[in-house]
Amino acid sequence: MTHAHPNFVRNCWYVAGWDYEFTAGTPHARTLLGEPVVFFRKSDGTLVAMADRCVHRLAPLSLGRIEGDDIRCMYHGMRFTADGQCIEIPGQNVIPPTACVRTYPVTEQGSWTWIWMGDPLLADPALLPHARGVDDPEWVLKTGQLDYAAPHELINDNLLDLSHLAYVHVASFGATTGWISRQPRTTQIARGVRVDRWVEGAPPLPPLPSLAVHESVDMWASYEFLIPGVFLMYTSLHPPGTAAASKYDAPAGDVLFSNFTCQAVTPITADSSRYFFSWGPGAAFGDEVIAQQMIDVAMAAFLEDKQIIEAQARIIAMSPGEKIMPNAADKTVTIFQRMMERMKQPASACAQP
Ligand code: FES
Ligand SMILES: [Fe+2]
Repeated sequence: MTHAHPNFVRNCWYVAGWDYEFTAGTPHARTLLGEPVVFFRKSDGTLVAMADRCVHRLAPLSLGRIEGDDIRCMYHGMRFTADGQCIEIPGQNVIPPTACVRTYPVTEQGSWTWIWMGDPLLADPALLPHARGVDDPEWVLKTGQLDYAAPHELINDNLLDLSHLAYVHVASFGATTGWISRQPRTTQIARGVRVDRWVEGAPPLPPLPSLAVHESVDMWASYEFLIPGVFLMYTSLHPPGTAAASKYDAPAGDVLFSNFTCQAVTPITADSSRYFFSWGPGAAFGDEVIAQQMIDVAMAAFLEDKQIIEAQARIIAMSPGEKIMPNAADKTVTIFQRMMERMKQPASACAQP
């Protein structure tokens, strides 16, 4: 029996990867929430996730072989079904019913692969965040990912407080202090927070050649940040004056450009994380070329985040007992952190087969 790490919320969907990462015919090893997990596809393409640990001598099943819908451990040859049940022990006729590997609920939606790391009986597809995929008709999206030598909480905090754009993303996004001069409106929603803000009189973000005709725009940025670390943001650019004319509520009037981004943070271990992201224009405002320009800008920006967050993680690791000092921009961070704390499960609450 494995014990749930106390630092993780478990009863929620985590992004395990992009659907195209999990190619058929071969097992794929991942570490999620400190647990070794193997992914493989059954002959009909259905994705399976199970503990990457043979019940015999704990060798990784990801070094095994896919045989039909089953996986065979390539140490001493035990064979397991997609349900984790052992059906063959070479050289032995009796198979004990305890010869069973834990499996995890897994779902593919859009381009996103989600895994439920908690009690399988609580895995509810209705709780899947509405992340858009590369095949979405409304948006032209490109994808990317980055690994962080930092706890997932620090990346969540970063996405919950976009005031950092004014300082971290000057080079990549050309972001201005408009990101901090006006506090966003924060609303608590089911399993997360919603953050709406206007940035007034700023150069267009993303800084695309095709948008350079607009010297100054008003930008509406509206996002949901959902348990355990899923960021879904709609942004639209408008003629100057739109923010005031809309009374700083949702925009009314002309849209010059719109875009959508889905991002997700998944713990690899307590101290390392994988960050998945997609970004691109509304189908009416851009094509594959624009989408590629945007994801290139995004990668530059997310490397800026990675640099400051990994450096922050190193300082925190050297500073036991040092406390943070929240400021006005931290309201959203604090609300979300409290939600996460409430959802953390005691180690014994993790169901095992
Ligand atoms: S470790 Fe898997 S069969 Fe021996
Ligand atoms: Fe950032």
